[in-house]
Amino acid sequence: MHAPSILLAAAFAGVAIASPTPRATEYVGYLISTFSDAVPKVQFHLSEGNSATEFSFLNGGNPVLTSTVGSKAVRDIFLATNSARSEWYLLGTDLDVEATGFSWDVATRQGSRGIVVWKSTDLVNWSGSSLVTVEADTAGMAWAPSAVWDDETSQYYVFWSSREYAESDTAHTGSATLDKIRYATTKDFATFSAPQDYLAISNTPIIDQEFQYLGTPGNFARFYKNETTQQIVEDITTGGLFGTWTNIGYATTDIPREGPASFADNVTPGLYHLLADDYTEYVPYESTNIRAGGYTASSTNGFPSGLKHGSVTPLTQAEYDALAAAYPA
Ligand SMILES: *[C@@H]1O[C@H](CO)[C@@H](O)[C@H](O)[C@H]1NC(C)=O
Ligand SMILES: *[C@@H]1O[C@H](CO)[C@@H](O)[C@H](O)[C@H]1NC(C)=O
Repeated sequence: MHAPSILLAAAFAGVAIASPTPRATEYVGYLISTFSDAVPKVQFHLSEGNSATEFSFLNGGNPVLTSTVGSKAVRDIFLATNSARSEWYLLGTDLDVEATGFSWDVATRQGSRGIVVWKSTDLVNWSGSSLVTVEADTAGMAWAPSAVWDDETSQYYVFWSSREYAESDTAHTGSATLDKIRYATTKDFATFSAPQDYLAISNTPIIDQEFQYLGTPGNFARFYKNETTQQIVEDITTGGLFGTWTNIGYATTDIPREGPASFADNVTPGLYHLLADDYTEYVPYESTNIRAGGYTASSTNGFPSGLKHGSVTPLTQAEYDALAAAYPA
């Protein structure tokens, strides 16, 4: 009875999920997709060439997309694409913290179980927003979606954080699980597989997870927030998203930090950047030894103020030019 399950476990752990990573020399800049507390809509910031810290606020400092669904506010913006870079999805949390009667208690008991989705084939011409339910009836909310494209199965693995109530507690008035990371798969961000737990830690409520591909199949870092210490945890693996992960501690000792956005430097091999939200705005960090953590503060010269939980995408020349032309700073 043991042999088959060991084999199955080994095959599952060996799944190597690749991120879209054309050679670094193909990239000429970065796009930050984000929102602000004052304006909970999608906002784009474009780098000055391959500077990882100097950015211009595109579209004359105005948002590029407004949610027309659910709460009509969107937070925690993530930009996903496939290896061919032929389709783009902007994802966000459906949550308006300025709504009349808003409370975090209600937001985590009867919060939105959907994520806000926009689609594009060219990064500039976007569909209208849609609200796609990803969570089960037992979930209190669906926060901070992120996604990883998998070449082997031609689908996205989509992650978010939630807490769950007992099946019998249909009004979600009782106690819930600790916050944990959930996931589902999709090919089109319209239809999703049934949600499952990805990472639930017995003594730690966690939110805001995203992955960093480390350039070799199966090699990733993942970042998420320990809500107890209000710090960003880093784990690493060589075995793919569902492999064995090693905790390497906190990315930075600075507190509070949340909403990690990690990206590889376009120019310097082995250099990685991490944006961490101090509850007011993003603070930039960098590391030349991501497998050990070791982040230090980056220059904030030219780094925009007021950016909240978002994601950073490397851009080809054609993508960079299309964004600059469609949404001038
Ligand atoms: C934008 O996309 C729509 C279909 O989604 C298409 O009809 C339209 O021509 C596109 N516009 C541009 C400028 O590409
Ligand atoms: C989160 O912080 C608590 C309190 O320090 C600690 O006990 C727990 O191990 C931490 N969890 C992780 C995953 O870092």
